[in-house]
Amino acid sequence: MIDKSMPGSTLTFIGDATVRSLVLASTKLILEQQTPGGAYPASPSFSAYAGYCWFRDGSFIADAMSAAGHVESAELFFDWCSNVLSSRSGKIRYIVAESLAGRPPADGQMLPARFTLEGDDGNDEWWDFQLDGYGTWLWALAEHSTRYGRSLERWDEAVALTVDYLVCSWDRPCYDWWEEAAHQVHVSTLGCISSGLASIVAAGHLDEERALRATETVELIRRRVQNDGVRNRHLTKWLGTEALDGSLLALIAPMNFLEPVSPVGKGTISAVEEQLTVRNGVHRYLADSYYGGGQWPLLSCFLGLAQEAAGNRSRARELLLWVASVARDNTELPEQVEGNLLDAEQLQPWIDRWGPSASPLLWSHAMFIRLAIALDTIHPMDRSESGPQTNEKGL
Ligand code: BGC
Repeated sequence: MIDKSMPGSTLTFIGDATVRSLVLASTKLILEQQTPGGAYPASPSFSAYAGYCWFRDGSFIADAMSAAGHVESAELFFDWCSNVLSSRSGKIRYIVAESLAGRPPADGQMLPARFTLEGDDGNDEWWDFQLDGYGTWLWALAEHSTRYGRSLERWDEAVALTVDYLVCSWDRPCYDWWEEAAHQVHVSTLGCISSGLASIVAAGHLDEERALRATETVELIRRRVQNDGVRNRHLTKWLGTEALDGSLLALIAPMNFLEPVSPVGKGTISAVEEQLTVRNGVHRYLADSYYGGGQWPLLSCFLGLAQEAAGNRSRARELLLWVASVARDNTELPEQVEGNLLDAEQLQPWIDRWGPSASPLLWSHAMFIRLAIALDTIHPMDRSESGPQTNEKGL
């Protein structure tokens, strides 16, 4: 699907100054929107998302803020996650006990994908049973702790609850990143769980028995993905299909589940470039019809991160500049852009249902920050007028 007629040079009018100013606007937006309790609203003004914080979006946002030097913001989010989990410790222990006894609770009794900004369960119907976000929060927390040498003690209970929850439920079918296809086991979900468990083990903080169970699970997931989640030399959307999904890119970078230069790593990047990418804009998957199935800037950033990890920095830069080019007023990144719709007839029905698609989307801003940092276009310390953020350790 690569459109060779679009030379990278059409993006040359966008330079580092534009990128830097969008990074600053992005961090400002995220800091302004974060609640005192630590929640990052997914999209403050979009009808269907307003008032909610997702573990998935929030964890990637916290990772970007951490990489950008905003230690306190990232840790406040981890506190929010920790409160959500610890306040449900009874429920989680029940799920774990029942699952271990061979009586796994129904999907509706599992943890939801999103919570209100105050950390309560939502009142609206949602496609709630999703496991990936719980792996992603463990991964983001471990990355943060390694990046700054921070102790994980403060999040102890929540980490243990999450590990136990994932170890007993990782192989259950659930909704994917896009909150669809509940009857499948999704490869990106498995990768997020595996990366979360592996990184929290590597952070050296779990007790021996828990670390052992987490490591066994990581190994089981690897084998399952190798056997049923790879076709035609690329990772697949779910186990047993040949289809592809843009979310798989995250498993290459930043989540490090798959080596970028391994045959499957390279194959996955090429397949996404060829099948899902049109003029630098990446689709979620070929059958997407949500708001007509547009291109997602956050996925172009994930593609950029994967390309950068594979050593293709010029391609990664092209993707970064494309994302900057779709920002509204050079300050606002949407969830998706409508330049190249896969199913144009489905755009209006969604607008009729929920209004225009989400913008700004904080996760899009976060991925832009993350890619700009990976490409050294911006450094953690030159990111705001107010100068570097410090904490008690002088970080
Ligand atoms: C996306 C999810 C995302 C949510 C909030 C949904 O449309 O499919 O991946 O977590 O929006 O941004």
